[in-house]
Amino acid sequence: ATTLRDAATSRGVLIGSAVATGPLRDDAAYQAKLGAEFSTVTPEDDMKWARVEPVRGQYDFSGGDRLADFAAAHGQTIRGHTLVWHHSLPAWLTSGGFTADQLRAILKAHIEAMVTRYRGRVAIWDVVNEPLAEDGTLRPGFWLDNLGPGYLADSFRWARVADPTAKLYLNEYGAEGGTAKARGLFALVTSLKAQGVPLDGIGFQTHKLDTTRLSGLADTMRRFAVLDLDVAVTELDVRMPLPANADRLTRQADVYGWAVSACLAVPRCRSITTWGFTDAHSWVPDNYPGWGAAALFDEGLSAKAAYYRVLTTLTGW
Ligand code: G3I
Repeated sequence: ATTLRDAATSRGVLIGSAVATGPLRDDAAYQAKLGAEFSTVTPEDDMKWARVEPVRGQYDFSGGDRLADFAAAHGQTIRGHTLVWHHSLPAWLTSGGFTADQLRAILKAHIEAMVTRYRGRVAIWDVVNEPLAEDGTLRPGFWLDNLGPGYLADSFRWARVADPTAKLYLNEYGAEGGTAKARGLFALVTSLKAQGVPLDGIGFQTHKLDTTRLSGLADTMRRFAVLDLDVAVTELDVRMPLPANADRLTRQADVYGWAVSACLAVPRCRSITTWGFTDAHSWVPDNYPGWGAAALFDEGLSAKAAYYRVLTTLTGW
């Protein structure tokens, strides 16, 4: 295989990337690489609530629509991201002084608006993002604080009605190994399934460091698969202290390779999505000063060791 997507197709999985707003609009080299190498795309920011409805009642779907058009032109699946999150909410919502009943109606209308808009185009939705705290209990935040735990089941049910064919995921970070959060997630998902909540899959974000020993991911995914759920690696990246050097880049390749191997080892693992494919557009340096070089391609879009490791892991020879 000459591209990641050809190699992934031959193994029955999708390989993807988060897509940044700016270069999708105006960087031809970025677009060419994205179209050639990846079979699934996720909007890094363009479907988040703060982005799509900055002013109440005035939806701006321009970024999401651009991604949907790109994906259609390149035969790519879209993972929609994300409907219900405590972060990246518009100020009119968080400081609007709404009652719980009002917020519930606003959330329902938002889910309906997004899922209906992209029905038939977004195949998979991250319905709920990051609902858990590190100790495995429900994470305090805007929705839990205002609506209580019922917002979880409600959100999946509303999404299912709006598009019965979309796969509905819960997406979480730090649940890749045998952590307290992973155990809490398992308990939560078991309970949601027992209530008949329409949940189809679990996304494991997998934001890691070059020094991470990524053991336990396949085992964790298998546990969730036993609950009759799909699983996916949804936000893979591997950051390192800057400047990058050959040792760090080799360790980074190891971590990428382990993540891909884990997915290939679990029949219900559908896709591996990287959280940005080039170091030129990555959330890492802004959020972890002094860190970066987390992606498969460098700032000039040259393939790094991690790219070749992912490719050879996918091909298997
Ligand atoms: O584009 C606007 C710009 O117009 C404005 O002037 C500027 C002022 O703050 O903000 C810009 O938007 C920023 C956007 O990134 C694009 O750079 C947002 O403030 C900033 O909050 C946003 O950060 C994103 C973050 O989620 C919060 O939504 C990152 O791009 C994105 O990579 C990151 O992704 C998250 C996943 O959604 C969930 N899992 C963790 C992951 C990494 O944090």
